[in-house]
Amino acid sequence: MELGGSLKAQKSLCVVLAFLGSNLVTLYLGLSWHSPLEAANLTLTDSNNIPHAMLGGDGSATLNTQVSFMVTLLNLTQAELHLTRLELSQLKQDLLASQELSKTLLAPGGYHFNTSFQENASGKAPDSAAQRFAHSARAESRELDEYTRMQTLPLGWSTGMAASEIVSPIGHACGNEANQKDLIRYMKYDPRGICPDDQGLAHTLTVHGCEPLPRRRCFARSPPHFNEPLPLPQSLWSIPSDDNILWTPYTCKSFACLNERKKKKVFEDCIDCFELQGREKQRWTKHTSDLDFSIDEVLLLKPGSIRIGLDIGGGTGTFAVRMREKNVTIVTTSLNLNGPFNNFIALRGVVPLFVTIAQRLPFFDNTLDIVHSMHVLSNWIPTNTLEFLLFDIDRVLRPGGLLWLDHFFCIQHQLDVTYMPLIEKLGYQKLRWGVGPKLDRGPDLQEVYLSAVLEKPLSRG
Ligand SMILES: *[C@@H]1O[C@H](CO)[C@@H](O)[C@H](O)[C@H]1NC(C)=O
Ligand SMILES: *[C@@H]1O[C@H](CO)[C@@H](O)[C@H](O)[C@H]1NC(C)=O
Ligand SMILES: *[C@@H]1O[C@H](CO)[C@@H](O)[C@H](O)[C@H]1NC(C)=O
Ligand SMILES: *[C@@H]1O[C@H](CO)[C@@H](O)[C@H](O)[C@H]1NC(C)=O
Repeated sequence: MELGGSLKAQKSLCVVLAFLGSNLVTLYLGLSWHSPLEAANLTLTDSNNIPHAMLGGDGSATLNTQVSFMVTLLNLTQAELHLTRLELSQLKQDLLASQELSKTLLAPGGYHFNTSFQENASGKAPDSAAQRFAHSARAESRELDEYTRMQTLPLGWSTGMAASEIVSPIGHACGNEANQKDLIRYMKYDPRGICPDDQGLAHTLTVHGCEPLPRRRCFARSPPHFNEPLPLPQSLWSIPSDDNILWTPYTCKSFACLNERKKKKVFEDCIDCFELQGREKQRWTKHTSDLDFSIDEVLLLKPGSIRIGLDIGGGTGTFAVRMREKNVTIVTTSLNLNGPFNNFIALRGVVPLFVTIAQRLPFFDNTLDIVHSMHVLSNWIPTNTLEFLLFDIDRVLRPGGLLWLDHFFCIQHQLDVTYMPLIEKLGYQKLRWGVGPKLDRGPDLQEVYLSAVLEKPLSRG
């Protein structure tokens, strides 16, 4: 594929440049000594090795022949250097071509090639590397181009949008070296037909930062024997039918299999979350420790005014279900990490949202009454990412809104040095605050849990 070719070329160029930088002299000598001289079996320092034709009749080299021999050598060297320059310039063109993709993917206008070289009415193959590249990328993912191409508004200038075009978004990391191949594969489909069975590919791209994914105009596959979901409130605590899930991307092919996982010694996220009658049924119903608050007590902190909110990384949606039973509407973000989490949440009758923790929250400023997160906001998240996330949570919380950090885990030292200062920077009032040891991986690690309910200041700015 042209893409891979360009990247390879880019790498080879780097190697060549590094080689040039550190070994310029060697390169020069290498070039002058190589093919022409070796073929003639010569070394410059040893006049005995000068070919017979170059020597005087008596076998001694005259000054003249030696000088002309040197000139020939220099001419050969020049020729070789010229050739090398040509190769370098070819590599440079390939590099530019690969930069072209990054640029077009990252440009504000999106993935949009200059039409004067993408369509050549004559149909003749394009000649520069950049043109070849643009041609093949476009051919390989015409749908990507169609999707991201800036579109002119048919009714002209829109005052509301302050624009006369519309641009469809795509995550900037979609153009990463690591994602390009997957992205082009993802965008290879039969337009207006049935999409490939590639939920796994979409998931991989998303968690690798290609978020949002481009839209596609094909029909997403659905399970072949989908049943109407159960009515509320039965749906809240019922495991749905296996028929309602498209199982292709997952190791398990049934809910029974998902629920068996906890008996095996395998590590999976949320290993017992699909088992609704077990631990899930107990969660947030009672205040059992300094770390475990009940939904009732938290709602009583603000009687009646907690109505809508967000649960970040909410597993199978049990927090939203419990809140729904209190007439509070919670949207649950979840990924489908080797299990149909989003489908399960939806079949229970609450709203799933398929976004990673890296994505800007799709809510407007000062809107939500509560944001909750259990286990997910923790020290596995790079501190920089976490800080942006906390500020984003602050943004979407309304004044006086609640941030419920539920079992945030880290090492005691990190809590003191990194996370406490980070949380305190938000300037929230601590309505509940508990720290306790986290022992599941042994006491030596000095891991702790923090559970807190924090209230956003009523005014700011
Ligand atoms: C070296 O090259 C130049 C031009 O490329 C040519 O005119 C000249 O005759 C060459 N000299 C020898 C010794 O080959
Ligand atoms: C498109 O490419 C052509 C030829 O390379 C160039 O002359 C022209 O300015 C480019 N147009 C835009 C909008 O970049
Ligand atoms: C299109 O093809 C013609 C004819 O082969 C060629 O002369 C021209 O340079 C091409 N134009 C572009 C933009 O590649
Ligand atoms: C939820 O709302 C319904 C309908 O308005 C009401 O009957 C019920 O008592 C409410 N439940 C709670 C826990 O407030």
